[in-house]
Amino acid sequence: MKTVAVVGAQWGDEGKGKIVDMLAADADIVVRFQGGNNAAHTLVVDGEKFVLRLVPAGALHPGKICVIGNGTVVDPVALLDEIDDLKRRRHFADETLLKLSCEAHLVMPYHRAIDRAREQRAGARAIGTTGFGIGPAYEDKVARSGIRFDDLHDARKFDDKLKRNIAEKNAYLKAVLKAKPVNGAEIAASMKRARRRLLRYLCDTGEFLSDAIAGGKRVLFEGAHGTMLDIDHGTYPYVTSSNCVASAVLAGTGLGPGKLDGVLGISKAYATRVGAGPFPTEMKGRLADSIREEGVEFGSATGRPLRIGWFDAPLARYAARVNGLWGLALTKLDVLTGIDPIKVCVAYQYKGKRYETLPPGRSALESVKPIYEEMRGWTEDLGSVRALADLPESARLYVERIAGLTGVPIAMVGVGASREATIVVQNPFLA
Ligand code: IMP
Ligand code: MG
Repeated sequence: MKTVAVVGAQWGDEGKGKIVDMLAADADIVVRFQGGNNAAHTLVVDGEKFVLRLVPAGALHPGKICVIGNGTVVDPVALLDEIDDLKRRRHFADETLLKLSCEAHLVMPYHRAIDRAREQRAGARAIGTTGFGIGPAYEDKVARSGIRFDDLHDARKFDDKLKRNIAEKNAYLKAVLKAKPVNGAEIAASMKRARRRLLRYLCDTGEFLSDAIAGGKRVLFEGAHGTMLDIDHGTYPYVTSSNCVASAVLAGTGLGPGKLDGVLGISKAYATRVGAGPFPTEMKGRLADSIREEGVEFGSATGRPLRIGWFDAPLARYAARVNGLWGLALTKLDVLTGIDPIKVCVAYQYKGKRYETLPPGRSALESVKPIYEEMRGWTEDLGSVRALADLPESARLYVERIAGLTGVPIAMVGVGASREATIVVQNPFLA
């Protein structure tokens, strides 16, 4: 396959960063197509830890082109900070390798202020957002009042638009949210500084990608968040404000159906979620604490501790359907080492009926009862295993059971944090 998307099959934090980073080695171009800096991909390269929020993971591979597509919302200051940090650490020397869509929307400080003030006022009804202003930025996009990178081309028009937006948002912040207004002069000054640097990255990324694909280039589309955080298909309202399923690749880049050859779903060998909202297989207590510690389960965007649960097959089947998954990468299998038995949710009980996939209406997830199957654990260290056949028998049976339950072939299995600690059954670019 020449064009491959990687998407989260759970609630984000599935370990997409590591897989995307690995596959970036085989791609010519790596593309972000939705979300903003609410995403964070943690990568460990030669023992050095990187957290990428907006810059595609290709940036850690010399010579790869990184594209930020029109479906994203980008905090310009956060983007420039990230670029500076990468440069300080001797990456991303060639500026021409980054291409930013003119049609992507800007996340502004007033979006952040609104996001945070709303969450604070919501009390127990809070969504648990990352607080980076992503929801309010997408609201402006849909309301047709948002500011796009294209607007930077005309400094006067940009300033006017910014002023109008700031006046409106400040009125809303003060009167409705009872929050502090943002400082318009400060925002204008910081955008003036940022503008000069940003212009060099702007281009028609849709055309660029279309030409690249026609020229036989390999393209990796890097999804952010996860299927269950999708604005349409996730656990609404406990979701993010963009489509994060595979079909968002097309609208989020300006390519037509047929241009995406295959989709690799990423799922942990168990489950995690951050923020509020339903989580059927959630477990609490000592075992959850020890998995959180062993798996270092803290959200990379905000550092919050993640909620922990067992692998949920009905949910995975749903993700397979919504994303049209070609294969599954099962991450962090090593974290389950030493746990016995390991539970797997094979179906739900809901209103007296058994469901193999999600019952109608995502709110049903608040009250489904998981039906568990218990599997034998293992104690052997998995870190050096590079083939399924070399896994301890019960670990292999666990992986095979998940493939059987989800109906999706296992393409990769993660057995440790580093790039190398991965069993590659089938590399999508070689399929
Ligand atoms: P927002 O995207 O900041 O609006 O947050 C909405 C919900 O999505 C919250 O529950 C966040 O914790 C969650 N979320 C957003 N981005 C990610 C991610 O990359 N990984 C995991 N959860 C995320
Ligand atoms: Mg992440």
